[in-house]
Amino acid sequence: MDEKKFGLAGVLGWPVAHSRSPLLHNYWIRQYGLQGSYVLLPVAPGNLQAALSGLPALGFAGCNVTQPHKVEAMALVHEVDANARAIGAINTIVVGPDGALRGMNNDGFGYIQGLIDASPDWRADAGPIAVLGAGGAARAVLMALAQRGAKEIRLVNRTQDKAVALAAAFAGLVRTLPWESRHEALADVAMLVNTTNQGMHGNPPLDIDLRLLPLHALVSDIIYVPLETPLLTQARARGNRTVNGLGMLMNQARPAFQAWFGVLPEISPELRHLMEQSI
Ligand code: ATR
Repeated sequence: MDEKKFGLAGVLGWPVAHSRSPLLHNYWIRQYGLQGSYVLLPVAPGNLQAALSGLPALGFAGCNVTQPHKVEAMALVHEVDANARAIGAINTIVVGPDGALRGMNNDGFGYIQGLIDASPDWRADAGPIAVLGAGGAARAVLMALAQRGAKEIRLVNRTQDKAVALAAAFAGLVRTLPWESRHEALADVAMLVNTTNQGMHGNPPLDIDLRLLPLHALVSDIIYVPLETPLLTQARARGNRTVNGLGMLMNQARPAFQAWFGVLPEISPELRHLMEQSI
């Protein structure tokens, strides 16, 4: 085997054992006839810098970066693209021929593409959008919605101060509402997005009353474990279209795979099924 042609990548996080990314990338490595492997890289917080500086010597084409390293890693790479800089975090690193580390963030791309795959006529400017949560994921989602031409976003977070701080980057587009108003924030919206961790496996369901949510509104949850959160079950039962977070996960991986291995991979029905079965 030619060692120079062996493609190596992985996901760097802590904890990381639950990640579905190896299943996804290794499927594509096989599908496109490449030689290589995508591995779990459990790196504790204090070891991030050492781990990153070892990537070129280990022959890595690059890696994904996940919690809790997405923000800190941005300060440790040599170059950060404009999109990642705007989001304030990276989720992908590409090792250059000279060993330089380049950071990018495909979460927003993955989010939008996941919506379009599930609902091809989706438009960001179809009406007001309610976004719940103001963490790292919310920032990438807001940035992507803004780039796609959203006209009005209502941002609601348990800790309103965090929503206010986040909204400051989107003057005129994002308005914050107190957590107590989350039910009323749904009146007239074209879309509701959950970026909080409520409804995720191990957490309680999101506490929200959907009575005022229009039936034509799309309900999007970026969670993919479980595939259908209680929010999505409730929305589907009353007739809303729903989209889970699996499409975001799978689509954010595509530009990363392309940057490392030179092929933009496709999401086949078989791959989607395999991923769903793994959850
Ligand atoms: P991520 O990077 O996935 O966005 P995060 O930055 O930890 O993760 O954000 C978690 C989000 O879930 C936050 O918006 C958080 O609200 P706070 O800013 O008030 O902490 C939200 N969240 C967590 N627990 C919650 C709860 N019990 N009820 C409502 N929102 C909650």
